[in-house]
Amino acid sequence: MNRNEFMKHAAFATALSYSKILGANERVQMGYIGLGNRGDQVHEGFLEYGDAPTVAICDLREDYLDFAAKKSRATPKRYADYRRLLDDKDVNAVAISSPDHWHAPMFVDACRAGKDVYVEKPLSLTVSEGRRMVQVTGETKRVVQVGIQRRSSKFLQEAVEYIKTGALGKISTARGFHVQNESPNGIGNAPNGNPPSAEMWDKWLGPAPKVPYNRNRTFYNFRWFYDYSGGQITNFGVHYMDMLRWACGKDTPKAVVAMGGRYGVNDNREIPDTCEVHWDFGDMMMSFVQYNANAAPAAPRGVEMEIRGTKATMNIYSNRWEIVPEKTTELLFGARTPLDRTEEKAYNPSKKTTMEPKTVNGTTSTPPHCRNFIDCVKSRAKTNCTIEDGHTSTANTIISHIALRSRSFLEWDGKAERFTNNDTANRYLSYKYRAPYKLG
Ligand SMILES: NC(=O)c1ccc[n+]([C@@H]2O[C@H](COP(=O)([O-])OP(=O)(O)OC[C@H]3O[C@@H](n4cnc5c(N)ncnc54)[C@H](O)[C@@H]3O)[C@@H](O)[C@H]2O)c1
Repeated sequence: MNRNEFMKHAAFATALSYSKILGANERVQMGYIGLGNRGDQVHEGFLEYGDAPTVAICDLREDYLDFAAKKSRATPKRYADYRRLLDDKDVNAVAISSPDHWHAPMFVDACRAGKDVYVEKPLSLTVSEGRRMVQVTGETKRVVQVGIQRRSSKFLQEAVEYIKTGALGKISTARGFHVQNESPNGIGNAPNGNPPSAEMWDKWLGPAPKVPYNRNRTFYNFRWFYDYSGGQITNFGVHYMDMLRWACGKDTPKAVVAMGGRYGVNDNREIPDTCEVHWDFGDMMMSFVQYNANAAPAAPRGVEMEIRGTKATMNIYSNRWEIVPEKTTELLFGARTPLDRTEEKAYNPSKKTTMEPKTVNGTTSTPPHCRNFIDCVKSRAKTNCTIEDGHTSTANTIISHIALRSRSFLEWDGKAERFTNNDTANRYLSYKYRAPYKLG
């Protein structure tokens, strides 16, 4: 055995020695790392079911721990250091809802400790972290659910099946929209200052660079800063990218371009308040539209996503999808001439509706995604949002904020996970962790 094989074997043996296979009637004892805005929702999602009791909780805030303990209807063990929670043999599985820059190190440590993992989206801060998370999942044979909850939504599963029948015709473009008006003051201009405690600030930063404390870099608002997040492109964009490529049967794009800036909101954010991203998948394109300084609908009636085919468009809302048929004709789109308008006038009236409109109602909520994870922990089956899908969708969005930040048209080799026409942009695919942090 060479050193690499030995390390892999040792890690796998360690993971196995800590975990045991649960029977269908057994309970999945849950530990939670990060119990803020999203951690609370995920916790609630698991509490919908009787077979996923809360046995351990970890967060940097005492008030969040108090809140979670009360909600749990149990007496979970409380941890300030997530590694101690991972040492806890009573914990079968963990839900990680920390800021994005913490996902990869916590996830890898959890897999190595033999825990199955529900990890929030976006999977990682960088593409290389995401790739490592895929590898470690394979090495440790963990059950992993990435927190892109639309994958467990029945009406969206039906939407994907409907598209697979080819009913939309040839799909040429698909778009997602994140629209809200945060002007004029956005998240405000909090000055740098002293952290509540040096230890808390250090633990918040983890592997991220040491910078002066600023309140806006912490709870919830971290998503407006590149050290901890890819901004709304990865935050909301990953939900849309994942849904659209699932529906259209796509993996990685061939190229990406993005444009945007801070045009309408006056605060200390780093990410744009307005931007558009376009991905070229070779035979279709996808777009993400972020208008955060104006809330006029980007598409009719508050559509979240649209998929445009030659025969029909699918509009996707949070609680329904609808099919809007196209009208087409076999006539040629003739060259217009002032001498004879007959052909021109006949063109539109000759068009016929291709199909009946259709609407399917449903809901997008977190509990079914938690249920799917619990079931897979017991059966060891693949989850609805696997690590591979979570990584591909996340990586597709990360490369778009790299395009934005490097102001470039980037060609992407999805297999090698490298840009082929811009070496400077390749530098953004990973970052150097602050000592002593390491990705295991
Ligand atoms: N799936 C979804 O729809 C959805 C929705 C919102 C947020 N999210 C994701 O959830 C994650 C968390 O976002 P949020 O809005 O809850 O942010 P948040 O700031 O409200 O919560 C993050 C929590 O992590 C804790 N934390 C940070 N460092 C820690 C450490 N070293 N050890 C233990 N706890 C630590 C913080 O104390 C905080 O309570 C993000 O990755 C975000 O993208 C997903």
